[in-house]
Parts: sequence; structure tokens; C-alpha cells
Amino acid sequence: MRRPLAAGNWKMNGGAPALSEIRSLLEVAGTASSEILICPPATLIDRMRALIAQAPIAVGGQDCHPSESGAHTGDLSAEMLADAGASYVILGHSERRQDHGQDDALVQAKILAARRAGLSAICCVGESLAEREAGQTLDIVSAQIRGSVPQDDSPGLVIAYEPIWAIGTGLTPSAEEIAEVHGALRSMLSAHLGSARAETVRLLYGGSVKPANAAEIFAIDTVDGALVGGASLKADDFSQIIAALDAAQG
Ligand code: PGA
Repeated sequence: MRRPLAAGNWKMNGGAPALSEIRSLLEVAGTASSEILICPPATLIDRMRALIAQAPIAVGGQDCHPSESGAHTGDLSAEMLADAGASYVILGHSERRQDHGQDDALVQAKILAARRAGLSAICCVGESLAEREAGQTLDIVSAQIRGSVPQDDSPGLVIAYEPIWAIGTGLTPSAEEIAEVHGALRSMLSAHLGSARAETVRLLYGGSVKPANAAEIFAIDTVDGALVGGASLKADDFSQIIAALDAAQG
């Protein structure tokens, strides 16, 4: 049984004042059946962790360096994120792949680093609009899975299907399109990891998830939760998305 996951990706948004949004989420977290995760900018991880105390909200990073330490100015290791209180890290997000030239081999090295530090990795895959229009979606995500996901065990691994053209645009694939990619991802993971291990991997959808479309997305059988950008910045919106995820399990 895979526990549904509502993951918030704050990206490069939010200083100390944004922590008040977390205070509002504490109440929701007390009664939610889904797992709740917030990935704030790394500068907020330890303050957020302190604020959350024992409440059932996990905190995560948005990237990490493959090495444990060393001369890598501006980078953070998985161990540092864990030390600050993170239990998850988003890896291979399309904004990191594009803005920082991260390829699949590097993403795989980062997933191995996450495992070394005891963090669960959320590995993002997804196609561009041109790739979707050229009918290449399944080839693209398949290559990303084979290149990015280590074949040995990565406890807690999560895969987020995030079509690049849906991120921050208000556009989303149809339910059939999400189900098709998720179905293919599940088969690819079975071939890559073995079916028993593949069954434990949660498959999220990400890209313009909002309170208005959350119920429809979570009604798709293959969807184990969401990676939410913009709508995770406001506790009220994110709470509605968590409620929709909870309701979809009922
Ligand atoms: P969005 O971002 O919800 O703002 O589209 C999702 C993501 O990039 O993880």
C-alpha cells in the first residue's frame, strides 16, 4: 500500500515571513491521512523543522550535490540537508535540468547521494511541449527513468511526472494522458527495478495542480499524489489540495 503524498515545492520563493503559512498547515496536518511534505528554499529548512516540531509534516530540499563535502562553492550536500532536518530531496526537476545543465547521469549520482544521507529522493521526469507534439513523451520519460534511477535499492524513492509545458502555465494534460504516462512509468520501473520494488515507488503528478483541478487529478487511479509548485505557497490552497488527496482515498 503506497501512502499518498502531497509535496509542496516552494522553489526560490519565501523568506522568514512565509513560515506563517506553515503555522496554518499544522492544523490540517494533524488530521490528514496523506503524507505532507514541504520543500522550501534550503535557507528555511532548519527554521521550518523547528516550527513544525512533532507535527506530521516532512521537510525536503530542492537539489543536492552528489558529494558529501568539498570544494563546491554554492552547493549543498545531501548530508547537509539531512543535518538541517530534511527527510526528502527533489532531484532532476526540469528547472534544475534546464538552468543548471543537469543530465540523467548527474541526477542518478544525486539520487545515490540522497540514499547515502538517508533522504528519500523525488525524481522528476517529463517532456517538453515539442517532444509531446512529436509523439516522443514515452521515449523521453523512459530514457529519463533508465538514466536517472539507480537499479539497486533507493528506499522511499518517489517519481514525479511533470510535463515541462504544464509547470507554472495553468495547462495540464488530460486525465487519460496522465494515466497513460503513469502506466508506462510503472511498467518501466518494473523492468528497471523488479516488480516488487517498483510497486513501492509512489508516482506523483506535477504541473499546475490547484484546488480547482486537484480532485480530478487525484481521481486517476495511477496517481499517488502531487508535486505542487505555485499552489503550495498559500496554506489555504495547499490545504484544499491535501483535502482532495485525502478524499480520493475514501
Ligand atoms: P507548478 O510547479 O505547480 O507551479 O506548476 C510544479 C513544479 O514545478 O514542481
